[in-house]
Amino acid sequence: MTKTRIAAVDVGNDSIKAIFGELEHELNIPNIVARDTEDRPVIGVEELNDKNPLDGIHIKVHSPALKENNAVYRVGHLATKSSNATELDPGSSKSEEDQTLVMLFTTLALDAVREENANIFPRAKNVVDANYTLGTGLPLREVKEGKDVGYRSKLVGSVHQVEFLVTPKYQGLKVNIKFNEVKVYPEGFAAYINLVMDNNLKIINKDLIDKRILIQDIGGLSTDIAVIKNRNVDDDKAQGFNLGVSESLESIREEIRSKHGVELDSRRDVVEIITRKNDRNHIMVKGSRTSVHDITDRILLELAKKQYRLLRNVWQKNSQTEICYFVGGGSNVLKEYIKTLNNGLDGYNIEFFEDEKESIWMMANAYYKLITDFVMKTEKQKAVKEPVKS
Ligand SMILES: Nc1ncnc2c1ncn2[C@@H]1O[C@H](COP(=O)(O)OP(=O)(O)OP(=O)(O)O)[C@@H](O)[C@H]1O
Ligand SMILES: [Mg+2]
Repeated sequence: MTKTRIAAVDVGNDSIKAIFGELEHELNIPNIVARDTEDRPVIGVEELNDKNPLDGIHIKVHSPALKENNAVYRVGHLATKSSNATELDPGSSKSEEDQTLVMLFTTLALDAVREENANIFPRAKNVVDANYTLGTGLPLREVKEGKDVGYRSKLVGSVHQVEFLVTPKYQGLKVNIKFNEVKVYPEGFAAYINLVMDNNLKIINKDLIDKRILIQDIGGLSTDIAVIKNRNVDDDKAQGFNLGVSESLESIREEIRSKHGVELDSRRDVVEIITRKNDRNHIMVKGSRTSVHDITDRILLELAKKQYRLLRNVWQKNSQTEICYFVGGGSNVLKEYIKTLNNGLDGYNIEFFEDEKESIWMMANAYYKLITDFVMKTEKQKAVKEPVKS
């Protein structure tokens, strides 16, 4: 019998978060791809094998699920350096974009090719046959429109192949991905599950389970507010907004460049500067420690105000709400600003997560809980149906 491996994958607009197997492997890859017109671009192949595969993901994807089959892509960090890189457009539908699938397949392939998995997935020459039991999600809006059904059937119906081209360590390997099962959960609901249940889906938060709660997920490009009532997501009340934190991080980077002449490599560097424990909001300019607090404060406060307005709006429409949880990387960045605003204004009962990882990995953790629970239940059913022959 073919072995299957559990994968819980959150395809965020900003980055993919994935958890595998028995929690022994995880991946976080920026959601950014660039099309390559040729199979062999000029990449410094010389020291290829000293490099981290994640810094040089260069692949060709064969899959009937794609609108553009057999295309070549640079993915993640490598794509950042390309001029034609694309990030997901906030107005688009995750379930209908090739980029979502390319990122998903790439992530699974990167797990499948690891030497540690050679005993699970058979290898013949340079081909790995991988089989996954996948838990993933789509924005509530798309699930409401029924797009999860088509998305799921695109995945389960066929074999998807990722071919590693000029990728460190894995060059020349091909991974055939099949799915044993795919579950597509609505994002807001998943966050709720993660809040109230542990890894065995035992209730860990009795107080919370029957409350009316809001979950405001501030991501890279979008903000979703889920409304939970009667242990369920209220589909009609949930709202999505095309407002994330990436744009503000980019403005901060831009202003630091124009004011101090310092070029930060990425938005990630900005996050580091504004969230680190020591020397927060300071950079080095020509060797002198310099404050950029004026810049970060103004831009982040502006965004926090907008986020607070969204909260206020949704809370007004759901007046019996008892608490709102802020999750997502954006909440991590805006925490102090939103708290301060709230203290001076409406004084809503709001809560943030101390641990930034908990906030960012919320969805992936939830999918992991849901998919492992599903696997356990089906195994139990099988055991009942097919008792061990004596
Ligand atoms: N500790 C952190 N590590 C990584 N990114 C962080 C961190 N704290 C804040 N961020 C920033 O938070 C933003 C949102 O990250 P998050 O992972 O929640 O978005 P996403 O889920 O990929 O996007 P979306 O929810 O829009 O689909 C990113 O721009 C990221 O740079
Ligand atoms: Mg997200």
